[in-house]
Amino acid sequence: MTKTFWLILLILSANAQAASPAEALQGYTAQAKQENPAYKAPSASKGDVFFHATHQLGNGTSVSCATCHTANPRQPGKTRANKEILPMAPSANTQRFTDAAKTEKWFRRNCQDVLERTCTAQEKSDFIAYLLSVK
Ligand code: HEC
Repeated sequence: MTKTFWLILLILSANAQAASPAEALQGYTAQAKQENPAYKAPSASKGDVFFHATHQLGNGTSVSCATCHTANPRQPGKTRANKEILPMAPSANTQRFTDAAKTEKWFRRNCQDVLERTCTAQEKSDFIAYLLSVK
């Protein structure tokens, strides 16, 4: 076995390692503080407002995170194609925020869909803080 092989294996297994929602929260909070030194700590109540806020899209439709994820993050949601989405609250779905690449991928996609822009690290951090506060 070559050194390179082991190095690649090490990197792959490190990436595949399950993270926790607390680690995801920590990561986005650190990023948010870098982007905005005035940001002190994640706010579950701001995350709550963010989750439920409706946005008017260019095409006239109203959409929010709750449109697909439902107003209650402990409940399963539905995609536009009517496929089930498992609950967003880690208290109801232990798989939530345990895969950093997945989390980032869906933030990118859903923020674009709902806000027509990417989310800031601060919004992501507040969002996860809110979902963690839902017991
Ligand atoms: C059009 C439907 C839809 C809307 C609107 C939507 N989502 Fe999602 N979201 C999904 C789907 C589908 C998944 C992937 C399936 C799953 O993870 O169960 C997902 C998953 C996610 C995940 C991955 C969580 C994890 O397990 O790591 C995040 C983060 C997320 N959404 C954030 C948001 C945010 C923030 C908003 C509002 C700005 C939003 N979503 C609005 C459909 C939607």
